[in-house]
Amino acid sequence: MSTAWQAVLYVHLLAMAFFLGGQLVVGLALVPVERTNPDPERLRAVARRFGIGSAVALALLLVTGIAMADHFSLWSSGTLQIKLTLVGVLIVLTLAHLRYPRAHALQGAILLLTLAVVWLGVDLAG
Ligand code: HEM
Repeated sequence: MSTAWQAVLYVHLLAMAFFLGGQLVVGLALVPVERTNPDPERLRAVARRFGIGSAVALALLLVTGIAMADHFSLWSSGTLQIKLTLVGVLIVLTLAHLRYPRAHALQGAILLLTLAVVWLGVDLAG
């Protein structure tokens, strides 16, 4: 792989790390602390920044992912097609999460879908 395409994959992976890592930090650290030591103002402020960061990460994943799929001629790959379907569902659930921020089932589904998309991404690159 050329250095330029390695850089594109690198950005894809950095965005993935933020998108997945952010969900884990919020779920495993922020939400439990919030339960024992509630501060709705702080929670809203963190959620706003996390939301902006996640939107930027998702945009980077889409742009770099589309560029790699073109360059590596992967559009006919079944794995990529399943991955894109799951990414579509992920985007719909993320928008639903903005509307219903307290629905825990939605948050769990978003995390599980993200883990599945990462699995399919690793499958694609391997
Ligand atoms: C939430 C969204 C996404 C996540 C979490 C994600 C995650 C990943 C991961 C973990 C890899 C593995 C890289 C490696 O092992 O080296 C990967 C590769 C890849 N992703 Fe994504 N991805 C996302 C969205 C997309 C989108 C929208 C596309 C659009 C077509 C895409 C196209 C690709 C391609 C083509 C590769 C393989 C690159 C190669 O062959 O080296 N991804 N992705």
